[in-house]
Amino acid sequence: MEKTKLPRHVAIIMDGNGRWAKEKGLSRNEGHKKGTDVVKKITQHAESLGIEYVTLYAFSTENWKRPQDEVEGLMNLLRQYLKQHIKEAKRKNACFHVIGDRHGLPEDIRGQIEQLETLTKDKTGICINIAINYGGRDELIRASRKMIMALQQKGLKAEDVDETYFEQFLDTAGIPDPDLMIRTSGEMRTSNYLPWQLAYSEFYFTNCLWPDFTVKAFDLALLEYSNRKRRFGQSE
Ligand code: FPP
Repeated sequence: MEKTKLPRHVAIIMDGNGRWAKEKGLSRNEGHKKGTDVVKKITQHAESLGIEYVTLYAFSTENWKRPQDEVEGLMNLLRQYLKQHIKEAKRKNACFHVIGDRHGLPEDIRGQIEQLETLTKDKTGICINIAINYGGRDELIRASRKMIMALQQKGLKAEDVDETYFEQFLDTAGIPDPDLMIRTSGEMRTSNYLPWQLAYSEFYFTNCLWPDFTVKAFDLALLEYSNRKRRFGQSE
């Protein structure tokens, strides 16, 4: 595919782990485990294609309401994932960044996140953003609070705020907006995912459940993206 038609940034809602597990008579946590294997395959593939950023919705601010063993299962998968990438950081070129309210996470996971971010901050390969304890509205509120404090400290006024000023307080500050958002499992909504950042993104929905999502299925989404005409609100 022409490099110009390749999205720089792909955001993904990895939905359908539970249904996949149910279909197979497995536990929901086994669905999430298979989903983690798919995360690794897709991010490796995205890196090999030259995609610069992938942002994955791993755990929402609403997911705490799930049964305790599922929450624990997901936290354990995140621990394992972070541990593996901390171990591999030296010989790999990917950069990791976590978005979401990390203050609400178990302390050991926060420590792992900080370690992985520090170890990979100067890497020049793909940037993998993981949304953990993330909610879009929550992000906007946290950003607004930080901005109000900054305005007060710097003696600035409400009129000094524009989009560029506001954006620096988002969890995604410095990261370009996603060009493409993929959601698996047939649900056609954005579920509080990156409401600010997805304003002009192309959406791609597929019925495929996340654990069944393949490199080929990802390529299909890229192909469809390459055929879309992006106008950013302008006429042709
Ligand atoms: C949605 O499927 C998926 C999640 C809530 C969790 C996604 C997490 C992973 C794929 C694994 C951990 C991630 C990383 C980056 C290591 P669902 O459970 O809502 O599925 P359902 O709608 O079929 O029940």
